[in-house]
Amino acid sequence: MSPIGVYICHCGHNIAGVIDVEALRERVQKACDVSVVKTHVFCCSEPGQKEIQEDIAAHGLERILVAACSPRLHEVTFRRTIAHAGLNPYLLEMANIREQCSWVHRGPEALEKAVDLVLMGLARLARLTPLSDRQVPVTRRALVIGGGLGGMSAALELADCGISVILVEKSAGLGGQAARWRVTPPHTDPLSCFVGPLITRTLLHPRIRVMERCTVESVLGYVGRFTVSLREISGPERFTEEVGAVVVATGFEPYEPEVSRYPFVALPQVITSVQLEEMFSRIARDAKDLPSALLGVRSVAFLQCVGSRLEDEYPHCSRICCAVTLKQALALRALGMEVRVFHRDLRLYDKSQEEDLYGLARRRGVQFHRGTVTEVTPHDSGGLIISWHDEFLGSDFRVPVDRLICAVGLRPRSDANALRTALRLAASPDGFLLESHPKLHPLESAVEGVFLAGSCQGPKDVRETVAASVGAAAKAYELLCQDILQLDGMIAVIDHERCVGCGVCATECPYQAVALREDEEGNLKAFVETAACKGCGVCAGACPTHAADHLGYPTQALDAVIDAALAQDAGRKILAFCCHWCAYAGADAAGVARLPYPSIVRIVRVPCSGRVSVSLVVRAFKKGAGRVVVAGCHPPGDCHYISGNLRFESRIPRIRKALVKKGYDPDRFVCQWISATEGPQFQQLIRRLADEMATAAQESP
Ligand code: FES
Repeated sequence: MSPIGVYICHCGHNIAGVIDVEALRERVQKACDVSVVKTHVFCCSEPGQKEIQEDIAAHGLERILVAACSPRLHEVTFRRTIAHAGLNPYLLEMANIREQCSWVHRGPEALEKAVDLVLMGLARLARLTPLSDRQVPVTRRALVIGGGLGGMSAALELADCGISVILVEKSAGLGGQAARWRVTPPHTDPLSCFVGPLITRTLLHPRIRVMERCTVESVLGYVGRFTVSLREISGPERFTEEVGAVVVATGFEPYEPEVSRYPFVALPQVITSVQLEEMFSRIARDAKDLPSALLGVRSVAFLQCVGSRLEDEYPHCSRICCAVTLKQALALRALGMEVRVFHRDLRLYDKSQEEDLYGLARRRGVQFHRGTVTEVTPHDSGGLIISWHDEFLGSDFRVPVDRLICAVGLRPRSDANALRTALRLAASPDGFLLESHPKLHPLESAVEGVFLAGSCQGPKDVRETVAASVGAAAKAYELLCQDILQLDGMIAVIDHERCVGCGVCATECPYQAVALREDEEGNLKAFVETAACKGCGVCAGACPTHAADHLGYPTQALDAVIDAALAQDAGRKILAFCCHWCAYAGADAAGVARLPYPSIVRIVRVPCSGRVSVSLVVRAFKKGAGRVVVAGCHPPGDCHYISGNLRFESRIPRIRKALVKKGYDPDRFVCQWISATEGPQFQQLIRRLADEMATAAQESP
């Protein structure tokens, strides 16, 4: 008799109201050779957890399966429960008989599925090995890259918390873009009023070492201990520093309009909003110093969305240009000029100030035209003729102006790619740096210990930049205030007996946590940098010799789960590999919303779709599965492991080829992207596949 305890939760009426838990207990007892099978009204309650702990002691249990709610909810709770009773916390499995069973199915089918889910869980549990958390000593120092508003705010925040900071800035001075702008919305008070003191505080802070005209060449290592190589921009000097965390605050660049896209920018009467801002700065220094470009000017027009909302290249709104235009329009009105604004629509998202600014601009006589500028041509008077189609009036108009100001959008820095590669960061298709998760981890990059501050992630105004930077600094502090970091033990491992040194795992790993090195006999083998591994399992999914494996989701265990799921009536079943972060959560969401779907689906949880290998899919068909689904986070950016979903997607042609070769219909294999909130999409997918299977069954002789 194996020392395994199985605990079936009633969850009040949530499970017991649908599934006959006593019948489930008897079926499991009969099917498996386990020491204890019990039911409890609420396993997660204090008495429920206590009973498990007492049984561990009384029966010498070594592994525990809890059949209850989703592991996304209580896996941590039950790991803690069994750890307190002296078991290795990783020797726990949960069978999700609530969100993925009693909340979406009814009658005897729910019981049948619950039995399968418990047996699948036991199959995995029996093959798990005890794991330990990784311990990483923390270097109590941070690197902040970028000396603009975001970088300075993050550096000061960390330094004030007692952390030593190295602040690296490429240019010869601090301040970044903010130093070039006179005022920025939401308010119109001079930016220099707070950028100046911020620069002084940064330069004088005893815990901040400012390194100007310096660039980051490489960042090696892992969370808690990064080795950073820095280089002087115009000198031979190179420095190596150890830091525990990195805050990236490299900011943005204003868009430079290309003549190929905007031919009129070649005209001397056309300037950009950035050039206008520089002129304002000069006027601020000396009111009599009106720049030549504005001398004698009586009328100006603004053209919005220059370089933004371009479907083919940069489809996003730059968020701050409309407010900047209002501010500049008011300043030009104050100089007595006639001002027009040509726009597609004004996007003023701030809760009050920008709306106030808009009202003020109207009251002060700024004229707004919604429509499309069709042509800008020089005029004999020395000015320009602007032709536009007015969307409200449905007619074409022409108007003379002295100057045209292009309200340019924000772009990622042109040198962002080099830094991105050095730090192994991901970028969205527009080139801005990508956060680990847009909602849950907006300030963390996918590389543990590297945080994103300010507009390196996308356009932000001053207030948002400071808020995000202070938030990123707080996240970095949370890490740096620890002496030792405890990292999850579910990571990749390489069997060197099987490894042939092909390097596929090293190429596929989204974190560059696998590298090829010579072993003691001089043979090239893959090695996992354990602290850098995030446990996505992409290497295990890709390895052609099965040398790479995942300690939490070993191939042997996944094989056994597939076998258990398809032991009965395989041809009637859908086997769905669902990534923990999105698709599995999406199936849970269907449960939470009580969206019923056919009970023939058996979900196999994997950390990421990238963990699913060609051979796992083939095995499912070999065992007779009616349909096989691999479901993960939406590409490109939703994958919790940067690009695990794309790595899996690249395997699809090989999967289809392997299925054809082995005589299986490749159309019975489906890949579907489902987010954590897309319960209805999960429901529709299973319904559609069940319908297809029913039709195919009717048509077959
Ligand atoms: Fe969902 Fe990678 S984590 S596909």
